[in-house]
Amino acid sequence: MNSLTNQQQRVLSGMRPTGSLHLGHYHGVLKNWIKLQHEYECYFFVADWHALTTHYEEAQIIQDSVWDMVIDWLAVGVNPGSATLFIQSKIPEHAELHVLLSMMTPLSWLERVPSYKDQQLKLKERDLGTYGFLGYPLLQSADILMYKAGLVPVGEDQVAHVELTREVARRFNHIYGREADFEEKAESAVKKMGKKNGKLYNELRKSYQEKGDAEALSKGKALLDTQQNITLGDKERLFGYLEGSGRIILPEPDSMLTPASKMFGLDGQKMSKSYGNTIALREDLDEVEKKLRTMPTDPARVRKTDPGEPEKCPVWNLHQVYSSDDTKSWVNEGCRSAGIGCIDCKGPIIDAVRAELEPIQERAQEFEADHDLVRNIINEGCDRARDVARSTITEVRQVMGLEYS
Ligand code: TRP
Ligand code: SF4
Repeated sequence: MNSLTNQQQRVLSGMRPTGSLHLGHYHGVLKNWIKLQHEYECYFFVADWHALTTHYEEAQIIQDSVWDMVIDWLAVGVNPGSATLFIQSKIPEHAELHVLLSMMTPLSWLERVPSYKDQQLKLKERDLGTYGFLGYPLLQSADILMYKAGLVPVGEDQVAHVELTREVARRFNHIYGREADFEEKAESAVKKMGKKNGKLYNELRKSYQEKGDAEALSKGKALLDTQQNITLGDKERLFGYLEGSGRIILPEPDSMLTPASKMFGLDGQKMSKSYGNTIALREDLDEVEKKLRTMPTDPARVRKTDPGEPEKCPVWNLHQVYSSDDTKSWVNEGCRSAGIGCIDCKGPIIDAVRAELEPIQERAQEFEADHDLVRNIINEGCDRARDVARSTITEVRQVMGLEYS
């Protein structure tokens, strides 16, 4: 159960810098980020340490990709005024939280994360029998818990990592959120809310704990969110006291499943670098046009006079993304009746992809030409992220008994 109400939920997501971004990233991930940045407080970061877990022997790729990735984000419309953009390794607190969480994370939890074995089998050319790779999902947990994120937009393959994060948070709160005098502290925190709010809190707590009234629970959380006079520690106690647990130091996040990308590659499979079927966001537009002109079509259409079936054609997949219903019926009829040729059919796609990429590339050029601007955006984002990270890590050190001053 999450401890924050919707408006206050923080969204956090990261992307690994392992090469240039393509239309699959745009349609699958970035358009979603652009939408979310208006609805939530968003943190988006370059997961360069995560990239190193698999690409430790090709560190150069990471170095080359980091700034390009940031430029691509900015060029498609991720807005540093709405979202906090930063680079993971610039906030070394992530590493500290990772190591602290590692102390209480059972090895078996990491060994049973599906991606651990799957990726080792899939990426046979790399040696992923490393300590870092085993810890990949726990590093991700540290990323998420550091910002007390409520929602984590991820693809299907990452849901298990968010699930692990929930378990780690639960275990952390269970171990470190138990205070000998928890009840007294919680009761005195209730008093600090003032008479009226304290009474309301007690009523809502009672309704939830005695009758399981879920609405009372969310009302109670909303009430806590608006309290200005109590400390963070007291707030955490009151969230936990409301739910019947100990103090909630690291709230459990929910994953927000990104709808599977509709973006297909030039060969009809999902667009992915490993299939070599991509169109990069900053690829030269004449090259893009050439790729589209020469991409395969329904193999039955050897000559223009042979009828075809759109379902068997990768171009048809692209029409699903880019074309209006009118254009799609024009394709459908023209293809089946051999009324149009494949080059005609690709025309609207070529136009649409050009129209989509042109403004992105123009903006990318502006950012490429002003590297100081890009660096400043990231520096500012890092500063904001570091403030949050420091506050979390200070709390974590406290409850783990690591404050020796
Ligand atoms: N593992 C994620 C991926 O491969 C990237 C990532 C790292 C991430 N840390 C994160 C995503 C935290 C969401 C939240 O896509
Ligand atoms: Fe594919 Fe269009 Fe050619 Fe039909 S006409 S085979 S849908 S490219």
